[in-house]
Amino acid sequence: CGIVGYIGRRDVAPLLLEGLQRLEYRGYDSAGIVITGKSGELRTVKAKGRVRDLEARVPKRFAGTTGIAHTRWATHGAPSDANAHPHADAAGAVSIVHNGIIDNASELRARLTAEGTVFASETDTEVLAHLIARSQADTLEQKVSEALRSIEGTYGLAVLHRDFPDRIVVARNGSPVVLGIGEKEMFVASDVAALVAHTRQVVTLADGEMATLKADDFRTYTTEGSRTTATPTTVEWEAESYDMGGHDTYMHKEIAEQAEAVDRVLRGRIDDKFATVHLGGLNLDPREARSVRRIKILGCGTSYHAGQIGAQLIEELARIPADAEPASEFRYRNPVVDPDTLYVAVSQSGETYDVLAAVQELKRKGARVLGVVNVVGSAIAREADGGTYVHAGPEVCVVSTKCFTNTVVAFALLALHLGRIRDLSVADGRRIIEGLRRLPGQIDEILKAEPEIKRLALHFADAKSMLFIGRVRGYPVAREASLKLKEVSYIHAEAYPASELKHGPLALVEPAMPTVAIVPDDELLEKNRAALEEIKARSGRILAVAHQEQEKADHTIIVPKNEDELDPILMGIPLQLFAYHTALALGRDIDKPRNLAKSVTVE
Ligand code: G6P
Repeated sequence: CGIVGYIGRRDVAPLLLEGLQRLEYRGYDSAGIVITGKSGELRTVKAKGRVRDLEARVPKRFAGTTGIAHTRWATHGAPSDANAHPHADAAGAVSIVHNGIIDNASELRARLTAEGTVFASETDTEVLAHLIARSQADTLEQKVSEALRSIEGTYGLAVLHRDFPDRIVVARNGSPVVLGIGEKEMFVASDVAALVAHTRQVVTLADGEMATLKADDFRTYTTEGSRTTATPTTVEWEAESYDMGGHDTYMHKEIAEQAEAVDRVLRGRIDDKFATVHLGGLNLDPREARSVRRIKILGCGTSYHAGQIGAQLIEELARIPADAEPASEFRYRNPVVDPDTLYVAVSQSGETYDVLAAVQELKRKGARVLGVVNVVGSAIAREADGGTYVHAGPEVCVVSTKCFTNTVVAFALLALHLGRIRDLSVADGRRIIEGLRRLPGQIDEILKAEPEIKRLALHFADAKSMLFIGRVRGYPVAREASLKLKEVSYIHAEAYPASELKHGPLALVEPAMPTVAIVPDDELLEKNRAALEEIKARSGRILAVAHQEQEKADHTIIVPKNEDELDPILMGIPLQLFAYHTALALGRDIDKPRNLAKSVTVE
């Protein structure tokens, strides 16, 4: 979900609608806006659907200079006009937009209903609006913190009150809130993407923090009311980095940007003298690094897949046992938290709730946690003991492409760093460094094959289901490529280790079920070729991604060879374009696939 708010002198509705548009990738099943009207009354418009549906409903005369708005991704209650935010109390005194989940909403709702409150929606958020409206406290700040004290759960929220028209009160606990500091105007949003067009001076609230925004002033304080210090920082990205830059979709733009992005994650980090890398933010001295006995990587979705490749890189280059697990599974299974294990949390947004919760649980148990994160200053980056930023730049398309690639490269750097502290030779360190330096040029080479990849995508676009296979280094590549295809094209896709084919999925193989095979030129080439034979013998159609033409495949996409360990970084890239062109051919909403959101800041 996305929140945006403004208080200042400009006409607020167009500002908020534009802000919402920039946040739509965070959720897009309904949207709403509330402004303080000329005579202090709160005026609300909501609509099921996209921001453009909301825009169509906003009346001609909708003037004001203070307002808040929201784009929603349903958790409690189906997408509908009534369930869209903002939510108000019955008298229309309070209006609120909220990201997150109130865990004790049903108890509070029952209590309030018993006391005569009439609810207008099925949402958990509405409970908060009523609690704030009922508070007898003197100030809006006190009313909000009183209400927050009676709820359990997560929130990033913004509140307007009819009787306090000079301010917006905001609060954060587990869901991002960023203040944008302007000249005699203040912004608030759940994501800097909505602010950078207006100001690059921002303050990111911490959990348990609140803020009051007035047109020419802001202050931050804890939920208990004690002042906190907030020094604005400057967002490192220009507003244009959040635009489509001449492409028709963000996905296409972000795929195309990968060479540049990889260059950025490498820049300034390579140490040629010692054939290693500098990762300044790790906060892990060599002695500590040597005492690590295991590495456990946690992430969700695409970040989890990047973590799987990361685990392999760490095992190969640093010879430390490593594995990746979905953060959500990890935190629900009462894991054994071992003092000699180094934990690594991976997240593009740095806000995914399941990852954040896993980090918090680990830290509570005294574990050491590093973050591999894209968004600077995000919750996971702040919560971790140290880590590294992946510097992919703003990623807007819901499905992740360039951030995946950069995350894997960041893992290669981490693996190289750990390896060179342990048993990796200088010669091997050099070999990997040279390989890393070749990546940007090789990525551009792969992207040049787009017309051919497009042709192949059109060829396979009629498939109802596709199988993706790979072995060892190729397996996480197959998993990510399969995820990409299903997310963006809605074609069913399933990834399997090539070695497991004969234990089940071979039963599915027939001409109507094509297979995409990852076939690197490494020590497993012959084994992979045997898997292609098994498929061909059952009349399966095969698309191979390989370093050389594969005789058994119907089509081969050839990618440039790098070092064996680094090949996975390149082999998935043509399949990003494959998923993209399949989705395009099927007329899908590429940047905003149905039912998905970019950051899932709820459980
Ligand atoms: C959502 C997105 C995925 C993403 C995952 C993890 O499910 O749709 O594309 O991989 O969250 O997000 P993170 O920001 O933690 O990498």
